[in-house]
Amino acid sequence: MTNQSAQIYLDNNRTISEISPLLFGGFVEHMGRCVYEGIYDPASPLADEQGFRRDVLESLREQNYTTIRYPGGNFLSGYNWLDGVGPKANRPRRRDLAWQSVETNQFGTNEFVEFCKLLNAEPMLGVNMGTGTIESAASLVEYCNAPTGTYYADLRATHGYREPHHVKYWCVGNEMDGPWQIGHLDMDEYGRKAREAAKMMKWHDPSIKLVLCGSSNDSMPTYPEWDRVALETCWDQVDYLSIHYYAGNRDNDTSSYLASAAAFETYVDTLSGTLRYVKAKRRSNKDVYLSWDEWQVWYKDRSGRGQWTEAPHLSEEIYNLEDALVVAQWLNVFLRKSDVLKIACVAQIVNVISWLHTKRDGLLKQSSFYPFMLMSKLARGQALDVLVRAPKHETSKYGDQSLLDVSASYEEATGATGVFIVNRSETETLNTELIWQSIAPQQVSEAWQLAGTDVKAANTWEQPNNITAQPIKTAAIANGTLAITLPPLSFTALSMK
Ligand code: AHR
Repeated sequence: MTNQSAQIYLDNNRTISEISPLLFGGFVEHMGRCVYEGIYDPASPLADEQGFRRDVLESLREQNYTTIRYPGGNFLSGYNWLDGVGPKANRPRRRDLAWQSVETNQFGTNEFVEFCKLLNAEPMLGVNMGTGTIESAASLVEYCNAPTGTYYADLRATHGYREPHHVKYWCVGNEMDGPWQIGHLDMDEYGRKAREAAKMMKWHDPSIKLVLCGSSNDSMPTYPEWDRVALETCWDQVDYLSIHYYAGNRDNDTSSYLASAAAFETYVDTLSGTLRYVKAKRRSNKDVYLSWDEWQVWYKDRSGRGQWTEAPHLSEEIYNLEDALVVAQWLNVFLRKSDVLKIACVAQIVNVISWLHTKRDGLLKQSSFYPFMLMSKLARGQALDVLVRAPKHETSKYGDQSLLDVSASYEEATGATGVFIVNRSETETLNTELIWQSIAPQQVSEAWQLAGTDVKAANTWEQPNNITAQPIKTAAIANGTLAITLPPLSFTALSMK
């Protein structure tokens, strides 16, 4: 082990874009134990009077979720939203073909809206473009957003909600490019169906914002042609294009895995180019942005068949140190690409592919809980275009990559600066200087670090604090510079004023 040096140059005037608060969103799907035994569990001693798990709510609040996407996911493409509203005793039990589970429908649209209110998060609802029709999509908008006086709005009132929910964000289907999707369509078919659904949805409520299905991932054979065709067909009707991506260290190549930000950036850059191409081709003045509404590390537990049971244990991924460092980089990419990326939802918020696991009377926070918690709290205002000088390391997948992955934010109103740094080296401590090229903050108000020596170390029910973020002491900011030591395999979050 050696100590090397690095410099991070910051300038409050060198901005990328305002950081959309909706970048710190989450995703709830009727899959496994995300809804039942996750957020909603009336039988638990920890449930409140509405059946929501108090301990889960408390942890979700710590993470400052700003938006929640619901109800799927693959589940969405076989879901009839009418099954999930009205008196609970009358709601049908159904076979969910996507996850081969039994869906009791005890949690539906209205419970979801209530749940979002408790989190102070914007609800983001999906409409079914698989088995669903453009009419059922439009009816759900009427049910949620129209004033009473017509059929579906009145139905909402009979269900106890006289006032409209005013749901602003809507996904027009889910992963419709995937052959695994119920009612999968080809790109022309999807483009036309989405455009017609979007027209009807916006005629009900012109203030809503629509997310078009992009490619399910960058290895789809139709990527990025699908994105171009869907955008060209629906450009005038939609506001966002969705991105989905699940990362993983499948071949146990840790140095490449720890450079995953390179893959995330390329993905965004390609789709950003596609958006610009379609904008030019359509001679359009409007912009469409990206909604990264499914992102997470997911490769260890891909179980997806529930054997026709209720709330089966599916895809309850265990997260370790290297996964947490990849999540931190992902969030750094969100800031660095904040000019085009305006919504992001981690998939999912509890139990399923999640850093939060429940058992009947307890809750486990996994390693990657902490980078999200820190960045959703400390990244505010404008994203800064940082200049990083750091040693490089060689990776088999992405060539030479900087040992440091960095993002920063600056909020003019409060003077708060956030700096977020991953040292992805497995061996090198980096003596790093943060150097301000504009007026520097005066003091460090918060400094946190998550670090370890074993990339595979994880939190367990028996040892829940193996990998957590700890407060650290830093030197004073002197002559516009802050000197800080960054251990190998670490994530550091700083807030300064
Ligand atoms: O989040 C799990 C699944 O991953 C979602 O249902 C689907 O959209 C994606 O393939």
